[in-house]
Amino acid sequence: HGTAKVNQKGHLEIGSVDTIKLAEEFGTPLYVYDVALIRERARSFKETFETLGVNAQVAYASKAFSTVAMVQLAAEEGLSLDVVSGGELYTALAAGFPAGKIHFHGNNKSLQELDMAIEAGIGCVVVDNFDELEMLVELCSSTGKSVNVLLRVTPGIEAHTHDYILTGQEDSKFGFGLENGQADKALLEAMNSGSVRLLGLHCHIGSQIFETTGFLLAARKIYAKLNEWKKLYGFEPKVLNLGGGFGIRYTEEDNPIPASRYVVAIIEEVREQADQYGMVVPEIWIEPGRSLVGDAGTTLYRTGSRKEVPDIRQYLAVDGGMSDNIRPALYQAKYEAVLAGRVLAKPEETVAIAGKCCESGDMLIWDIPLPKAEKADILAVFCTGAYGYSMANNYNRIPRPAVVFVENGEAKLVVKRETFEDMVRLDLPLKERVKSK
Ligand code: LLP
Repeated sequence: HGTAKVNQKGHLEIGSVDTIKLAEEFGTPLYVYDVALIRERARSFKETFETLGVNAQVAYASKAFSTVAMVQLAAEEGLSLDVVSGGELYTALAAGFPAGKIHFHGNNKSLQELDMAIEAGIGCVVVDNFDELEMLVELCSSTGKSVNVLLRVTPGIEAHTHDYILTGQEDSKFGFGLENGQADKALLEAMNSGSVRLLGLHCHIGSQIFETTGFLLAARKIYAKLNEWKKLYGFEPKVLNLGGGFGIRYTEEDNPIPASRYVVAIIEEVREQADQYGMVVPEIWIEPGRSLVGDAGTTLYRTGSRKEVPDIRQYLAVDGGMSDNIRPALYQAKYEAVLAGRVLAKPEETVAIAGKCCESGDMLIWDIPLPKAEKADILAVFCTGAYGYSMANNYNRIPRPAVVFVENGEAKLVVKRETFEDMVRLDLPLKERVKSK
């Protein structure tokens, strides 16, 4: 995984920093990010567009992992930024991210959030529904400002890993149906609004996708519609955003194609479609989240108690769980792990890695072969960089872990560990505490 290596001591090293030292210095659980790997992923996306000579924006979908430092890293790498809430927008602005490269998503943006976005002068709002379009038009006329918009359409394709489904009637909470008249109506409203500037269309067909087929089908369906619109209204998009969703390898069961191959396939298809209908090739935007940061993140835990269910299973508990990684409980997501202090030692037992939350479903990995773990050994779980910290929670009032960035032998704390005080920070007492004598 990335710059992860085994050092002379047999310890797992990331970004040339010994993870055992990281655990000692920053405590556990700890999210460790391999910064060089994030940079490499970002550059590979950008270079693919540059090599093929396409005007593009690669927007990091910050829902995968949004913190001030991560947003600043995205800025350093020349990425644009996809935000989906006032909180993510606030994070981006607090990090000093160039507002003109922020794209605002979401199916229920509030008036306040839209106002904040327009006030900040963000790059575009991805309009999700008629209520939002109406609010935007009103905001623009009352403030005298204008805003770029993309219309999010649902092309009736849902893709996950190796499967894609043609859903026909677009049953999703997101976007304007492409084939049920909604997109047509939204197009006319936006074109005739006299305030919003319609740049083009957006679609996102799913996440953790291993094949290009779904993207190509979506592009074809969109172009069939664009062809109608060109003839009827003379509309041609300046921008086509095909979303994110490029899959990564969590375990050896996963075999995604390299991320740049999706981009090449998308570019070729869009060029072919535009050509076929005599249209100018638009700017192509994408929004990868997981594929930029997923395998760059590793979580370090300390092992704790064991429980053996005779003849059935050996449970090995760690000092985190569904509070820092809810994906196994929520999606039956699978992960790989090693003992960070003895990476090359032979497996001696098969254990089930349990979290510490009061819930039976709080399991991180079912049945993984490992060397015999002592108490307080460091377990490193790989590929936790996307939707790990961002979906972390305080279930059982467990403080959220710290986050460190490692690069070139240096470790930098970028999110502090929460404390017990943080757990009661927003609580208001029913009565002042009575001190006992
Ligand atoms: N663009 C839009 C409009 C999206 O809805 C998403 C993800 C992305 C981009 C980024 O997708 P990515 O490249 O990261 O696959 N919590 C789930 C994933 C939810 C994804 C939601 N939308 C998980 O942990 O697997």
